[in-house]
Amino acid sequence: MSVSFNSFIKLGSNRNLSKAELSQILYSLRIEQVKYQDWKDYLLLNLGKNAQKKLVKKLEQTGSIIKFGNLEFKVGVSEKKKLNDNLVKIIDGIFIKYLPKRQKQLKLSLNIRTNDETQKSELSKELRKIIRNISQDKRFPVKVLPTKKESYELTPFDYNKENLPSRGIELNLFVIKSKIYFGPTRWVTNPFKDIKQDEERPVRFFTHGTSIKLSRTLVTMANIPYDGMMLDPFCGTGTILIEALKQGLKVIGIDKDQKCIRSSKTNLHHFSEKYPSREKMKAKWRVQIHDSRKLTDAIQKKVDGVVTEPFLGPFFKHLPHIEEAQMIMKSLERLYTRVLAECKRLLKTGARIVFIMPEYNYPLKRSVYPNVKSICEKTGLTSLEESKFFNIKFPIEIGRKHNVIARKLFIFESK
Ligand SMILES: C[S@@+](CC[C@H](N)C(=O)[O-])C[C@H]1O[C@@H](n2cnc3c(N)ncnc32)[C@H](O)[C@@H]1O
Repeated sequence: MSVSFNSFIKLGSNRNLSKAELSQILYSLRIEQVKYQDWKDYLLLNLGKNAQKKLVKKLEQTGSIIKFGNLEFKVGVSEKKKLNDNLVKIIDGIFIKYLPKRQKQLKLSLNIRTNDETQKSELSKELRKIIRNISQDKRFPVKVLPTKKESYELTPFDYNKENLPSRGIELNLFVIKSKIYFGPTRWVTNPFKDIKQDEERPVRFFTHGTSIKLSRTLVTMANIPYDGMMLDPFCGTGTILIEALKQGLKVIGIDKDQKCIRSSKTNLHHFSEKYPSREKMKAKWRVQIHDSRKLTDAIQKKVDGVVTEPFLGPFFKHLPHIEEAQMIMKSLERLYTRVLAECKRLLKTGARIVFIMPEYNYPLKRSVYPNVKSICEKTGLTSLEESKFFNIKFPIEIGRKHNVIARKLFIFESK
C-alpha cells in the first residue's frame, strides 16, 4: 500500500539519535501511530494537521533534528500541467504572505532533490520562470538564494544568516519514484543561538563537558512531565541542568567536586539573571556537593527523572593497554552500579534514567565496556530496548569523546 506523506524531517548526522529523539517527541504528543519512510537524509512522515502544529512547537527543544517542513502537494512526474498549476499556487501563496510585510525583497531558496540532473535543471528553470512572472506581476523583487553544491540546500547557518523565514522561505521539491512532493520549510535549528549561549556562559569545560545540543536531546529522552523534578548526579558545569530548566523542569545537580559545584552555581546564576522572573527561576534549581554513590543521604524527595553524562574514566590521548582498560571499566561499573541503585531509590515508578556509558574499541572488533546486564541485575533496573517509533535499538552510539572513547546512550526504567 502506498502512503502519502505530508511532512518531512531532516535528520542530523547521527540519524539514529535524531530518530530516537523524534520518536520521543511524537510519543510525548500522544501520537499513537506514525507512517513514515526513510528517504536520503530525511524522514518522510504522514501526520495529522494538529500533530504537525504541535510538533513544530516542540522542535525548538530538540538537540539533534535539523529541519521540518510540509509537503503540501504531490503530483505525478509526467503531470506537467498539474505541477505547474500547483507550483504557481504555492509560490503565489508565499508572495501573498510576504507582501504585507513590505520588505525590500523576498528571499527564496529552492531545494530540489532528484537523482536525475536533467530533471533537476528543468524543474529549476520552471520554478524560476514562475517566480519571475509572479514577481513582475506583483512588483515585488525576489532573490533566489544560491546553495552550496555539496549540501544541495541551505545549511542551518545560511538559513539563519539569511534571516529566513522572516525574510522569505525555502521551497522543497522531492522527486520520489514517479511522484514530485513539494512544500515549504517550517522550522530549522538555529546553531547561532547555541554558539552564543555556549560563549556567554561564564564557565565551561573543554575536555569533559557535555555539548548543549546533546544535553537537550538527553533531557527530551527522559520524558519528564512539565514542572517535574530532574536530577543530574554528575552535574559538572551544569549544562544538562540549564537545558532542563529551559524545557520547564525543576532540577537538582550533584557533583563531588567543589570546583564543579562552584562552576555550576555561577552558570546557573548567569542563566537565571536573563529571566525577568529571575527569583522564580532561581527557586527551580539546586546544586550540592556530594558523592553520588550516597545520593539518598543528600536527597530525600522523589524525582521524575535522571539525566546525566557521568564520569567516563580518565582522559586519554590514546587508549590504554587492554588489561588496564578492563580494570578501568570494572571500577566504572562499580561506580555506575552504586549510583544507579541510589537513583532507582529516588525515582518515581515508570520514570527514566538517561545515562551515557563509555566503550573502548580495539582492533579486531574487541571492545571494553561496562557489563550492563550485571548492572541491571544488581540495581533492578531494566534497560529500554527499542524506541516507540522508527525501530531504533538502544543503546545508541553517540560519537566519540576526544576521538578516543566511544559513548553509548542507555535508557533505564524503574518498574
Ligand atoms: C563528564 S562530567 C559531567 C559534565 C557535565 N554534564 C557538564 O556538561 O559540565 C563528570 C562529572 O562527574 C563528577 N563525579 C565523578 N565521580 C563522582 C561521584 N562519585 N559523585 C559525584 N560526582 C562525581 C566529576 O567531578 C565531573 O564533574
